[in-house]
Amino acid sequence: MKGIILAGGTATRLFPLTATTSKQLLPVYDRQMIFYPLNVLAKAGIKEILIIVAPEHSGQFINLLGSIFEGAGIHLEFRVQKIPRGLADAFILGETFIGKDDVAMALGDNIFEDDLSAKIKKFEKGGLVFAKKVTDPERFGVVEFNAHDQAISIEEKPKKPKSDFAVTGFYVYDNQVVEIAKSLKPSVRGEIEITDINKRYMRMGELKVEKIKGAWLDAGTYDSLLEASLIVKKKEIYKNFDPAIDKAIIDFNLELKTIAKKRLN
Ligand code: TTP
Repeated sequence: MKGIILAGGTATRLFPLTATTSKQLLPVYDRQMIFYPLNVLAKAGIKEILIIVAPEHSGQFINLLGSIFEGAGIHLEFRVQKIPRGLADAFILGETFIGKDDVAMALGDNIFEDDLSAKIKKFEKGGLVFAKKVTDPERFGVVEFNAHDQAISIEEKPKKPKSDFAVTGFYVYDNQVVEIAKSLKPSVRGEIEITDINKRYMRMGELKVEKIKGAWLDAGTYDSLLEASLIVKKKEIYKNFDPAIDKAIIDFNLELKTIAKKRLN
């Protein structure tokens, strides 16, 4: 299975913070936000990862991640998304990278307390998404369950949500997703919607929705960005990182300190 992190976008809700850097490079407690989706992929054993970035800050992603995983068995590729066309664009931009494989896609600004790796590793076919109970479902893709806990409908940002369960920013699909994404028409807000991909899989009877435990944050606003840091610290989420990601961050930190010392001498 290949992995994609969608780390482009405009991040207008975080202006002016995102005038000088990308949202996914902002700090969440002691490390850049992008390490959280990277960690989810690495923990699930996904070692080939495409990072999709916006052109404005693309160089900063290379500065941080360009050589950090050398020798760690994690292979990164980068792709620029010139215009933020929507979440489903990940599978069009990633077509050659995905090849004939299955793919897991993580939004670059989503932070999960729950460990999703066992469920990702069990994936066989169709689509798999993760739902979490929220207080403001109208901001998200909303999934409705029947009495047997089977997902029966999905709606994007509904005015009258049929449940309190939001579809979170981690998605696993089989290879059909590339053709499905290519067939989508932009929605009224002008984006190709991941909800339309999920609806397609649901209509085919191939969408699995798993409810997750623990905190889930989409760190795209001032408040949720602050909350993300506080929750990561309080719940010590940084302590459960994949060893390869952890080592890369520690080594990078040491390297920066060594270089800084040399400059002072
Ligand atoms: P959003 O939070 O929906 O969009 P945004 O980051 O541009 O923020 P804002 O609404 O404040 O303007 O995006 C969710 C994630 O997906 C985030 O990591 C950015 C990424 N993204 C892309 O990489 N490309 C896109 O075309 C879109 C829409 C989002």
